[in-house]
Amino acid sequence: MTWTLNERQRSRLPLGDWWKDEELPLEWDGLFRGGPLNVEVGFGKGEFLLTQAAENPHMRYVGLEMYREGFQHLVKMLERSEVENVLPLEGDAYIVMNLAFAEGSLHGIYVNYPDPWPKEKHARRRLFTEEFFSIAARKLEPGGHLFLATDDPEYAGQAMEQLRPVRSLRSTHPGRPFLDRSPYSVSTRYESRWIAEGRPLHYIVYERTVEPCHM
Ligand SMILES: C[S@@+](CC[C@H](N)C(=O)[O-])C[C@H]1O[C@@H](n2cnc3c(N)ncnc32)[C@H](O)[C@@H]1O
Repeated sequence: MTWTLNERQRSRLPLGDWWKDEELPLEWDGLFRGGPLNVEVGFGKGEFLLTQAAENPHMRYVGLEMYREGFQHLVKMLERSEVENVLPLEGDAYIVMNLAFAEGSLHGIYVNYPDPWPKEKHARRRLFTEEFFSIAARKLEPGGHLFLATDDPEYAGQAMEQLRPVRSLRSTHPGRPFLDRSPYSVSTRYESRWIAEGRPLHYIVYERTVEPCHM
């Protein structure tokens, strides 16, 4: 593992909150070395993140998850693996994305199969919101990509509506709302389940424009 976490950060790594009283935004270059910085939001148990990182050793990946058990599962897998370009942290993406990353610092953001929370009383738990996409737009570098995937056709439609007002993100597939083929070579745990059930899947890839982000 090539992380350069200090002793206190390292001792708190299994808890996931090692980043909380660091100076923010975090100095990622001082924490782990490597290439362009990517984030997977809601990595679940982390299989996609780990495989993606192994396939792209020239990239760095930060895993962000609010589900403690999933977070700890990834830490254990990382301890056993030779992958050196993943650094996990636990927290709510709305808070962590805002605080831990400098504006324009991210090459890619991945959000795979988040729960759609269809009931209105749970709407604030959704990740496909204008608020989340605005944060993502600010944190992406010009030309950086936001990758979304969902099995839920209504949630895919909602994602499109919520993306529309975010002027500094534009579709990489303007002729069609969704891609029906995965833009990745790796499947997530949920994706494998939905494919086995024969559900149609929706992939959305947006790009951060080169103009400054006005929000
Ligand atoms: C349905 S699971 C999908 C897991 C994985 N991406 C996959 O495709 O197998 C959604 C995950 O997103 C996480 N999540 C939801 N809202 C989040 C938030 N605001 N911040 C961080 N993680 C979040 C959940 O804890 C859960 O692990």
